[in-house]
Amino acid sequence: MKPLELAYVGFESPEYLRWREIGPAVFGFELAPNTVDGAVRLRLDQREFRLAVHAGSQDRVRYMGWLMPDSDAIDCAVIELRRAGLVVTEHDPATCRARAMCRVVAFNDPFGLPHELCCGPDAERPFTPGREIGGFITGDGGAGHCALNVPELQAADDFFSKVMGFVPSDIIDDFTEIRFFHCNPRHHSLGLAHIPKKSAGMHHFMVEVKTEDEVGMTYDLCRKYDIPIVTTIGRHPNDRMFSFYCKVPGGFELEYGCGGMRIEDDATWEQKRFDRISTWGHKDAMMPTLLKKVVKTMRRHGIGEM
Ligand SMILES: [Fe+2]
Repeated sequence: MKPLELAYVGFESPEYLRWREIGPAVFGFELAPNTVDGAVRLRLDQREFRLAVHAGSQDRVRYMGWLMPDSDAIDCAVIELRRAGLVVTEHDPATCRARAMCRVVAFNDPFGLPHELCCGPDAERPFTPGREIGGFITGDGGAGHCALNVPELQAADDFFSKVMGFVPSDIIDDFTEIRFFHCNPRHHSLGLAHIPKKSAGMHHFMVEVKTEDEVGMTYDLCRKYDIPIVTTIGRHPNDRMFSFYCKVPGGFELEYGCGGMRIEDDATWEQKRFDRISTWGHKDAMMPTLLKKVVKTMRRHGIGEM
């Protein structure tokens, strides 16, 4: 099996309604009509949605949707997944409608992370950005990429490459080893890393706009709307993405970037190993914020005043 693209991602959060404001106003997403469960669904292109955030008692990923060529391809994939010992369930028509897909099956990977395979989509319509931006780069590269924290890197590599059919792109050795995989021309649709002491989950979801100005303006809007910036703007050495990371409701970081490279031909692609996560930038932006909070609290309590 080999997915065509990352079609959509879904999260849950007690703060899910905040997305109704920040989705359009900060990130330029278009609000899609609500589903029956009231989830906030956000559009990046002609698809019905690319990001959904459901009501939930905790912040966590609820599904990652991988588009398959057709229903027959899903049938074959289900056989392979069951052969690998996984439990696969068929979603009912109402859930398929909510995903705007003709057919959707669900399974947890060997580390308990929730995935779906889908085919369709069942409808497409024009996209109007939530604020003035030139749109998102999706097309044959799908919604963007997701980076997962997994408990065992090699076991995850084996599952996603041998069972799911992802093709290795390259590796970065920095604070930990990060392995990147593609399934279409986007440099990577999937990143895998083992970050010690962090439970398995989605580390970040990346969306791509067209210009550096749009990335910079969104950075400013995050600050205006009190969305915590996790890293400053920087550039990755492997996919050349110019981006920053911010913490959003749903328990993940949103990487907002532009300029990501494509892998057009697997036959001539050479896998490389990089020794740093960023060529420049991507500096920790949380620490100064935390320090400011500590200093503010100390001042409020008269600590450290001369
Ligand atoms: Fe990324």
